[in-house]
Amino acid sequence: MTQPTPDQLQIFLDVATEAALTAGTILQDCWGKLETIEEKGRPGDLVTEADKASEAAILNILQRHFPTHSILAEESGQQGTRTDRYLWAIDPLDGTTNYAHQYPFYAVSIGLLIDGVPQVGVIFAPFFQDLFRAAKGLGATRNRHPIRVSQTAELRNSLLVTGFAYDRRETIDTNYAEFCHLTHLTQGVRRGGSAAIDLAHVACGRLDGYWERGLSPWDMAAGVILVEEAGGRVTAYDGSPFVIDSGRILATNHHLHSVLSHELLKIKPLPEFAPI
Ligand code: IPD
Ligand code: CA
Ligand code: CA
Repeated sequence: MTQPTPDQLQIFLDVATEAALTAGTILQDCWGKLETIEEKGRPGDLVTEADKASEAAILNILQRHFPTHSILAEESGQQGTRTDRYLWAIDPLDGTTNYAHQYPFYAVSIGLLIDGVPQVGVIFAPFFQDLFRAAKGLGATRNRHPIRVSQTAELRNSLLVTGFAYDRRETIDTNYAEFCHLTHLTQGVRRGGSAAIDLAHVACGRLDGYWERGLSPWDMAAGVILVEEAGGRVTAYDGSPFVIDSGRILATNHHLHSVLSHELLKIKPLPEFAPI
């Protein structure tokens, strides 16, 4: 299959931007006025009317422009086939827990996988009016200005971020040991509560690296291309190629990649946090 031209990628990027800004306005309008906050299954995994309204607006715009493309959206699931050439991975509200508590770290994340590879991404954090965009070969921007990853080259000077999946009470693989270990070796590890914002912040150099397990494709698709186009590196924990269905990601400013991979592979789970 031939790679889409830069002009085609630009069209995908512009439509994704229109969808993300429209959805972001809906999220802002619902901010602080939620009527229904439900658990989807696992404790703490929330959905609200804002998630649903945001997703409906995104799907409406994408389907109008690209009726033949497939969709994988967090709240409504899959339309088309996962193996189709064009697959939009959509998180209409990344950071729902934050949003429900009126903690302003939340975002819309829209990524396009082409032949299984993230190639277009838009992340919009409405509260901060931060619009992150990237497409393969076209670079990465924040509010239309080019961005680059940080230059931090030593772990002891770095600021990292991670997160804890909703299955943390059901697995030994909680990510707590990794969090403690890397907190000791760095200037800090943040837990922002939005994987999309975490990745966008690595892309623009506010943070030096990010790792997490238990994620879904819609959490990562847009952020992966942002980090890559900003000069960063994205792989599995062991440095092998990133696999979006693995749920695991290591994204860094490039300089810290091997050392972070090395540290992550050393860590054993904390036995006191066995499944409950
Ligand atoms: C969650 C956030 C959080 C991450 C979780 C995700 P949601 O997404 O990205 O930072 O730690 O694993 O599921 O549920 O707010 O869309
Ligand atoms: Ca999410
Ligand atoms: Ca979500």
